[in-house]
Amino acid sequence: MENLTPGKISLAFRKAVSAGLMRNEDSALIFYDLSFLGERLAQLKSCFPASALHGLAIKACPLAGIMKLSRELGCGVEAASLGEVMLALHLGFSPGMVVYDSPVKTAEELEFALAEGVHLNLDNFSELERVKEQIAKWRNGEIKSTVGIRINPQIGEGSISESSVAGEYSKFGVPLNYKRQELIHAFLENDFLTGMHLHVGSQGCSLEMLTEGCGKLYDLMLEINSLTMVKKGFEQISTFDIGGGLPVSYFRDKRPALMEDYADALKQRAPLLFVNKFPQPASSAPQAGLRLITEFGRWTYTNAGWTVSRVEYVKQDPGVNTAMIHVGADLFVRECLNPRDWLHEYTLLDRAGNIKEGVSENPWNLAGPLCFSGDILAKGVPLPEVQEGDNIVIHDTGGYTFSMWSRYNSRFAPRIIGYYNDGETFVLLKEREGMADILKFWT
Ligand SMILES: Cc1ncc(COP(=O)(O)O)c(C=O)c1O
Repeated sequence: MENLTPGKISLAFRKAVSAGLMRNEDSALIFYDLSFLGERLAQLKSCFPASALHGLAIKACPLAGIMKLSRELGCGVEAASLGEVMLALHLGFSPGMVVYDSPVKTAEELEFALAEGVHLNLDNFSELERVKEQIAKWRNGEIKSTVGIRINPQIGEGSISESSVAGEYSKFGVPLNYKRQELIHAFLENDFLTGMHLHVGSQGCSLEMLTEGCGKLYDLMLEINSLTMVKKGFEQISTFDIGGGLPVSYFRDKRPALMEDYADALKQRAPLLFVNKFPQPASSAPQAGLRLITEFGRWTYTNAGWTVSRVEYVKQDPGVNTAMIHVGADLFVRECLNPRDWLHEYTLLDRAGNIKEGVSENPWNLAGPLCFSGDILAKGVPLPEVQEGDNIVIHDTGGYTFSMWSRYNSRFAPRIIGYYNDGETFVLLKEREGMADILKFWT
């Protein structure tokens, strides 16, 4: 699927204006093309066996309306905290569709997850011991949840070190190269441990890295399953969670690997993951068959969303101009703090939403409204002549933007609007914040 074009965005913007959705106070707005998102989810499902659980990473986009839509389209969720688990259950996800992955779960959080029956990915051996005790003490050996363990395949870092988690060292998971025997032992000792989980990184990791990370765990899974077959009479590992991490393109002329390419590569390297086996109902006896879990966040949401901000002021300095806009490091934490790795495309629209053409003599800095000098979304952007009242579109903002909203300076978070069919219909996903929201946060 192609990224949304300036033409399509301008059309939806103009329709939103006509529909009266952009009030004067909406100095910035976030939009989601829900038709595009629906197509992405259909594409994802078509690449993997029908029995796969697609646990979309909530951290990328926790908007309730979007989570409900993905649930209706048959997807599950990956939760990075108890709050995300609770949000998912509240929005009607059945526990079996929720994958709980935090690296720092308390005993109470584990107990809650086990009582609800969500799928748990444990991060380390100490957590495994806790769960083992809880199952013995509180649950009489019975368990509704399926339980896996996160393993770091140690295949190296991608191009963005802050979002790479499969290097020699990572704060996540059990390092495969150092702890291989302990891992095998943990599976042999604990019948309830029936899953393996990995996540290589988010953006910046090549398809080869993602595939090899899965491949290394797949080999271990085959080894453990043949061992348990001999010793226990069944193949113990029945859930294989490949995590997320497929990169997206933030630029229309750069083509990243497709989900189809990733699935094909994985099928070659780890064919059993593509055998369509439906999970058996949970019981104390381990079940045959393999369930594949995916956890894509960025790939799912990023290209479906865009943000628009009114240009409040224009400043001219020697060699560079500045457009003062209404979103900065509050919505774009990574872009402002690590501009080398996180870049977007921009389109300039006039007041009415028509695309402005051309390139002005001097490039443009896009400066946010926050009270520190690093609050600059982008520097030296070639744009047409910008005027007060114009609208800057920031493309591909559907993932890891609003979910990382910062309260610094207490700005009102913008209204968020979803639309179908290029703006034929709109749905309000979240209202613009007001005084009550600020007061609630700070009280
Ligand atoms: C454990 C885990 N799973 C899934 C994801 C989603 O990654 P992405 O959004 O790149 O697909 C992340 C993101 O960091 C993660 O930490």
